[in-house]
Amino acid sequence: MNIGIDSISFYTAQYAFDLEKLAEARSVDPKKYLQGLGQERMSVAPPDEDAVTLGASAAHPLRRDGKLDDIDLLLFATESGVDQSKAGGLFIHGLLDLPSRCRVLEVKQACYSATAALQLAAAHVRGSPGRKALVIASDVARYELENPGEATQGCGAVAFTVAADPAVLALDPEAGYHAEDVMDFWRPNYRREALVDGKYSTRVYIDTMLHCWRDYAGQSGRGLEDFERFCYHLPFSRMAEKAQVRLARALHAEADGKRIEEWLEGTREYARVTGNCYAASLYVALTSLLDAPGKDLAQCRLGLFSYGSGCVGEWFSGVVQPGYRQALYTQQHRAMLANREPLTYRQYEDIYHFLLPEDGADHVLPQYRTGPYRLAGISNHKRTYEAVD
Ligand code: HMG
Repeated sequence: MNIGIDSISFYTAQYAFDLEKLAEARSVDPKKYLQGLGQERMSVAPPDEDAVTLGASAAHPLRRDGKLDDIDLLLFATESGVDQSKAGGLFIHGLLDLPSRCRVLEVKQACYSATAALQLAAAHVRGSPGRKALVIASDVARYELENPGEATQGCGAVAFTVAADPAVLALDPEAGYHAEDVMDFWRPNYRREALVDGKYSTRVYIDTMLHCWRDYAGQSGRGLEDFERFCYHLPFSRMAEKAQVRLARALHAEADGKRIEEWLEGTREYARVTGNCYAASLYVALTSLLDAPGKDLAQCRLGLFSYGSGCVGEWFSGVVQPGYRQALYTQQHRAMLANREPLTYRQYEDIYHFLLPEDGADHVLPQYRTGPYRLAGISNHKRTYEAVD
């Protein structure tokens, strides 16, 4: 029985900040961001968007199209949680009016959590093939201003359903994983911005990727040429190129720059203009690839590498299903990205410095451009969300 991704939808904030403007403000050569990191723009979440509204907006088209009517498991993968106790997925459950016979929980392990959620959801479906699960990966990536990580900020969410006989991607049974207690990137509870040992984090990413590959290849017997494309977790889009070069070298594969580009083609376009979406990033890469014009990927095998600092990594794979393009939201994704409002440097900083009251005092938020849901305010220590007409 095939199990995998049956439908997939991506959402990002309606504001974008151009990295050329950031380079000017930081007196940095723009080529460092555009070429060195491979980033052009970052999505910026306004004060009335958070991980919950981004996630609900990503899932909204699936709800509208009746794809969530029979889910009985909702896993919300995030490291930008809004409550220490209540799962953010419950706000989404309410906003989308999902079935009440449903397990709902929040999953955290930095950017890796959505992959853990995908595997848990697949196991849930395998237990009883009539079951269907919803995974929502959603994050807002924040670093301190003027920190090297600043240019890699971003935000976004991907919602996908996991079911038997999936319309989009059938998962292979093999998965190679690796965990290690390291401090490459972390965010203590009292901080809004992540702390990061940037260069070290990229080294740990690569080492973890190679550990995972050895485990995956040992189970599957597959080599590089068994894959049409490789999707990577993308903290910045050039990370994929660095990882693929190191993987090819480790396997003594003949891979020049052109071959590396072919393996990654289509996977980095969305990340390049949204920035890091943490838990959602790998699935933003997958959506970008599936939406890409050109080669029909039906029956093609994809390799996917998930990495979450701290750290856990996983290589897994899947086969794209015939007719997958009919199950996508390609036009909607393209229109959303094209219609974002560009921010000036001043607007970027103003949004960055906006702080919700930390004492729980009642607060009504000004209305910005958002998706179909927004954070309306805080009342009596409770966040209140609303649908936007
Ligand atoms: P940096 O150290 O300031 O940058 O920040 P750099 O000096 O390494 O330069 C970056 C690249 O630009 C280099 O390319 C330069 O050569 C090039 P490379 O040598 O690596 O190929 N460059 C130029 N190119 C053209 N023209 C120029 C020019 N100048 C320089 N004029 C760093 C880079 C990634 C460290 C920083 O952005 C950072 O700290 N980012 C945040 C951490 C991060 O993204 N880590 C990635 C791995 S960890 C991960 O993925 C997990 C994460 O998503 C969190 C989670 O799991 O929750 C972050």
